[in-house]
Amino acid sequence: MQKFLIKGNRALKGEIQISGAKNAALPILAAAIMLPGRSVIRNVPNLLDVTTIIRVLRALGLKAEYSQSKPNTVNVWNYQVKHVAPYELVTKMRASFFVIGPILAVKGLAKIPLPGGCAIGSRPVDIHIKGLEALGAKVELEHGFVIAKADKLRGGKIYFDFPSVGATESVIMAAALADGETVIENAAREPEIIDLANFLNKAGAKIEGAGKEIIHIQGVNSLAPVDHAIIPDRIEAGTMMMAAAITRGDMKIGGIVPEHIEATVRKLQESGIYVELDGDSVRVKNDDGFRSVDVKTLPYPGFPTDMQPQFTSLLCLAKGTSVITETVFENRFMHLQELKRMGADIRLEGQSAIISGVEKMSGAPVRVPDLRAGAALILAGLAAEGETLLEDRDHHINRGYEKLLEKLSALGADIKKVS
Ligand code: EPZ
Repeated sequence: MQKFLIKGNRALKGEIQISGAKNAALPILAAAIMLPGRSVIRNVPNLLDVTTIIRVLRALGLKAEYSQSKPNTVNVWNYQVKHVAPYELVTKMRASFFVIGPILAVKGLAKIPLPGGCAIGSRPVDIHIKGLEALGAKVELEHGFVIAKADKLRGGKIYFDFPSVGATESVIMAAALADGETVIENAAREPEIIDLANFLNKAGAKIEGAGKEIIHIQGVNSLAPVDHAIIPDRIEAGTMMMAAAITRGDMKIGGIVPEHIEATVRKLQESGIYVELDGDSVRVKNDDGFRSVDVKTLPYPGFPTDMQPQFTSLLCLAKGTSVITETVFENRFMHLQELKRMGADIRLEGQSAIISGVEKMSGAPVRVPDLRAGAALILAGLAAEGETLLEDRDHHINRGYEKLLEKLSALGADIKKVS
């Protein structure tokens, strides 16, 4: 259990640099299973989730560690791969399931615990499994494990009913070493998928079209180790932009890729908040309030579901009534109850939150239900009058945001860990 105390109503001002993307680092570290030898992965954020995937790699027989001499660099030595992933680690973090494609491609057999659901939804893996079966794998569920077998994966044609990020990554990794060509239709288009494809192509893979809805993968016989730097974290960037807006601050956020945050920039500008892109940085300023807007979360390049909780917090203080609709996850509004304790005026109708803007929110004790909701409650606490005590039972905050307290404090926030 961790507790954070925020003394709110302080404008955030200054400059920060964004860390590497958690959701690019996790699949890329899993893909290192397919690269025999020593790979170097740079700009890796120092996060609990990354430590978890490193522990999974070690449990699979690889050596993996953050470099002692170079910050945010992970070295992976890959000289042997076991085919069974450890139960307690995979159920701890869903993204560990990403290792199924690489292990199957390298060993012809993978035994991975079925990842549990989490607070935001049941999060099945049926699309992953359908994709691997299209590559010739035989997949069974046995005693809570997914067991996938294939003497040799062969290229196939796959249509995704939903553009699942993880399933697109699983199939790209497995197809990279399959016999023949694979075509994925209705693929997810997130920037993290392009980063994974760039990493694998550097290693000798032949992947074309990553970032588009149709991806072609020509299987190769083997891959070689690489040195790769992870893209910046677009969700951290969006979260910090919202922090500047909600506290009526003035912040310059550096190290971003402008097109990765397009949807967030447009929505903030639509509400009347000053947002200016300048090369690899963005400035957000808000000194006299902003209007309500409506938004629907969609797969990339639509408005990201991972920014929905943070934007919900911001819209609690908009002038007027906003509607925010969550179309990606079935249960990603747990933060509403907590925001209402802070004086927000919100009601849930199906998958839409109807938010009537209020003048001010007031600090209160709140509970962190999941990673992005935690960020949303921090934003609300930074803006609220008085003190907000966040109870983070599952260490969600450390899972997804590198040095968040230090970054916010350097911008003028009064936030500290109290237990
Ligand atoms: C990735 O999760 C991200 N995680 C999530 O970020 C992000 O919210 C999500 O993509 C959507 O952008 C990582 O990259 C590690 P999906 P993933 O498969 O791959 C359903 C964060 O906060 N689905 O695109 O699990 C699923 O239930 C996390 O950093 C199936 O039905 O997302 C969900 O409703 C949270 N069957 C929807 O698709 C499947 O086989 C989107 O899931 C797979 C998914």
